[in-house]
Amino acid sequence: MVASAPGKIIITGEHFVVHGSFAVAAAINKRARVSVSETDQSRSLIYSKNFQKSFLSSNDGRFFALKTVASKVFAEFGKPRTPVLIKVDSEIPLGSGLGSSAAVSVAAAGALTRFLGNEVDKDKLLEIASEGEKKVHGNPSGIDTETSLNGGVLLFNKKSGSKSIPLTSAIKMIAVFSGIKRDTGKLVKKVALKRKESPYFFSSLVDSSSFTSLEVADALSNGDLPYLGSLMSASQCALAWIGASTVKLDELIETALENQDCFGAKLTGAGGGGSIIALPKPEKAELLLERISKKYRDSFIVSIPQEGLTFG
Ligand code: PMV
Repeated sequence: MVASAPGKIIITGEHFVVHGSFAVAAAINKRARVSVSETDQSRSLIYSKNFQKSFLSSNDGRFFALKTVASKVFAEFGKPRTPVLIKVDSEIPLGSGLGSSAAVSVAAAGALTRFLGNEVDKDKLLEIASEGEKKVHGNPSGIDTETSLNGGVLLFNKKSGSKSIPLTSAIKMIAVFSGIKRDTGKLVKKVALKRKESPYFFSSLVDSSSFTSLEVADALSNGDLPYLGSLMSASQCALAWIGASTVKLDELIETALENQDCFGAKLTGAGGGGSIIALPKPEKAELLLERISKKYRDSFIVSIPQEGLTFG
C-alpha cells in the first residue's frame, strides 16, 4: 500500500494562527511517500530514505511522529497480522518549514489505514496525523496536516476549520530554503513570551493577521498578484516583530526582491531558519529561480497542486 501527501507553504498567518487568527496555506509540488508492506522480520520496521534503517520500537526521536501515527492507527483499527515494513521517501527538505513532518504523518496515516483494509475517513485521519505532529512541536494549530491532507489553497482557522480557495489562474511562487533547520516548538514558545510581554499589541496583530489572510484569500482567487505580494511583505513585518525572522531570512528576502523581480516576499512557517517564499512577476519566475539557486540549492518554483493525500 502506497500513499503520498504534499508539503505546504504558509502564505500568511503563521504563528498568529496558533492564537486564533485566520491563515492561508497552499500545498506544494514536493511530496512525501509512505509504503506499507508485510515483512518476514520478527518485528515491524521503519525505513527512511532520508535517514537510515531503524526499528519501529527503537527510541530514535526522528521517528517519534511516525511511531505515534502507527500506534494510533493500530489502536483504532487493530494491529496487522504480521510485522510490517513502513518505508518513507520524502522530497521535502527536512527542517525547512515546508511541511515535511506533516506530509509524512498524513501519508503514513493514510497508507496504514488502507493497509489494514479500512476506508479513509478525513476527520479520523486528521486526528491521527495531528497526534504525530504534536510529537514534533507540542501545540500545532493543525494547518500543516489540513493542507497536506486536502491539497490546493486553504483558508484556515483553528476554530472554524478550513475552506478551500479556488484559483482562477495558476499562481507560481518561489520557495528558498535557507539551509538552516528551524525548530518550530522553540519558536512557538518564543512567540508566546512575546505575547506575554505585549498582550494588547499582540492581540491587535492576531486580528490584523486575520484581516490580512482574508484579503490574501481574495487576492489569490482574483489573481491580484501585486496586492497579494504587498500583503505578504507587510505580514513579514509582523513576523519580524514577534522574533520569527533572522538576519539570514531578511537577507534572502532582500535578494528575492532585488531587480524588481517580485511583488513581495516573506518567511514561511515557523521562521528562526527554514524557508522564505517570494511572489515573482510571472515573466520573471524562471530568471529569479536561476539567480537565487546559484546561492541556495534548495530553491524551487512552487506550483500549487490540487491533490492532497493520494494512493498508489
Ligand atoms: O512547522 P512549520 O515551520 O511548518 O510552522 C508551522 C506554523 C506555525 O504557525 C508556526 C505553528 C502551527 O502549528 O501553526
